[in-house]
Amino acid sequence: MNNLSDFGLIGLAVMGQNLVLNVESRGFQVSVYNRTGDATDAFVAAHADKKLVPTHTVAEFVQSLSKPRRVMLMVKAGAAVDAVIEQLIPLLDANDIVIDGGNSLFTDTERRDAWLTAKGFRFIGAGVSGGEEGARKGPSIMPGGPASSWEAMRPIFESIAAKVDGAPCVMHIGPGGAGHYVKMIHNGIEYGDMQLICEAYSLFKAAGMTADEMADVFDAWNEGDLHSYLIQITGKALRQRDPETGQPMVDLILDKAGQKGTGQWTLMNAADNAVVVSTINAAVEARVLSSMKALRVAASSQLSGPEATLEVDRQQLIAQVHDALYASKVLSYAQGLDLMRTMSDKKDWALDLGGIASIWRGGCIIRARFLNHITEAYRADPTLPHLMLAPFFKNLLNTNQQAWREVVALAASHGIPVPAFSASLSYFDSLRTERLSANLLQAQRDFFGAHTYERVDKPAGQWFHTAWPEVIE
Ligand code: 6PG
Repeated sequence: MNNLSDFGLIGLAVMGQNLVLNVESRGFQVSVYNRTGDATDAFVAAHADKKLVPTHTVAEFVQSLSKPRRVMLMVKAGAAVDAVIEQLIPLLDANDIVIDGGNSLFTDTERRDAWLTAKGFRFIGAGVSGGEEGARKGPSIMPGGPASSWEAMRPIFESIAAKVDGAPCVMHIGPGGAGHYVKMIHNGIEYGDMQLICEAYSLFKAAGMTADEMADVFDAWNEGDLHSYLIQITGKALRQRDPETGQPMVDLILDKAGQKGTGQWTLMNAADNAVVVSTINAAVEARVLSSMKALRVAASSQLSGPEATLEVDRQQLIAQVHDALYASKVLSYAQGLDLMRTMSDKKDWALDLGGIASIWRGGCIIRARFLNHITEAYRADPTLPHLMLAPFFKNLLNTNQQAWREVVALAASHGIPVPAFSASLSYFDSLRTERLSANLLQAQRDFFGAHTYERVDKPAGQWFHTAWPEVIE
């Protein structure tokens, strides 16, 4: 082994361990440190044949690295990241690089970037997606920070990232918090994708399909234009049997969804910027509603609704749900991209939306075949105002919308909640409607608050007020 390691990682939970093994497998020597030394020793002992250097104090860890030091943190997002940075600061030298690979809030990353830069160090806030398996075999990496830090980390990042058509699923996203921001949007989109799949599942269930029959459908879809990791794991999850009872595993899992916050952050950022992410919003709220299990159980026997049983041609339903899912998914990604474009303009990040779609093609949770079309759309027109106006997507939405409408109507008439399908459809219909009902809304605002309005028959920017009649109650 060399005297000094090429790379160091702090935080040996599963993601951290797997990233270390991934980096090491590309020919780098890696120093590791964990708050509890036993975990460090156990990990290194379990991989005795690897170029790993166990360290038991932060000082020993820092001294074991070649300069400029490259230190990656894989610790819980939040206070733990600051605590580790505090420990590192007195030990680092100018130009050393600290990389936060957790799911940190991008504004925390901006604060840490300013903090470390002021001290002469370099900071990278890197979104890392792909779960445990991705970390080991090749994640999608979204690093943000100064270009010089990216260049210093590039060889390692490119070697450990997933590859699609030979291209590594990593690129310099932008300065400051841009990397963690894009990872947050990735997660918001992930929430949308997962919810849309769950809505398809609830329709199939209402049509009386068994878990294995549904698994067949998802497997078949995974061979087509919906080919994606989440569709693939859905098929596998549906086929899984509980060893204890022999029943489908999904039937035994309580219908209360958890969430760690990145979806909610996406909504808060969208609200801050007045960008509509209604599909992602529906997905986050669906998780919240699912968590209100006791209220739902009580309400289910007190509030009536139609019979949630679909007596329909099954093959036709499957085909329609496919189209509804695809169209809804497109709008969900369009919303995420719209939010990224808005923030990119606001923060001068110069985000390359086509490039981002392309590094999401492998390694990450939302990896999917259709991302190629998003990359193509932005390559063809980098100033594309909205994804749904790109030729490929325009055509897809026009083709799929009949089935999409029928699915949403079918669900509504049978009392089956499809919040993400319907949010996507309403978003689509709102954006393709030339004249909405907001004329009446403006009249109401002017009526009670003299907020004024523009007129269709006068130049934009001229504001009018009407002396509305007095209300006598
Ligand atoms: C990824 C995932 C990962 C994590 C999610 C889970 O890209 O690898 O997004 O970061 O599994 O954050 O989030 P929830 O617990 O909120 O579903």
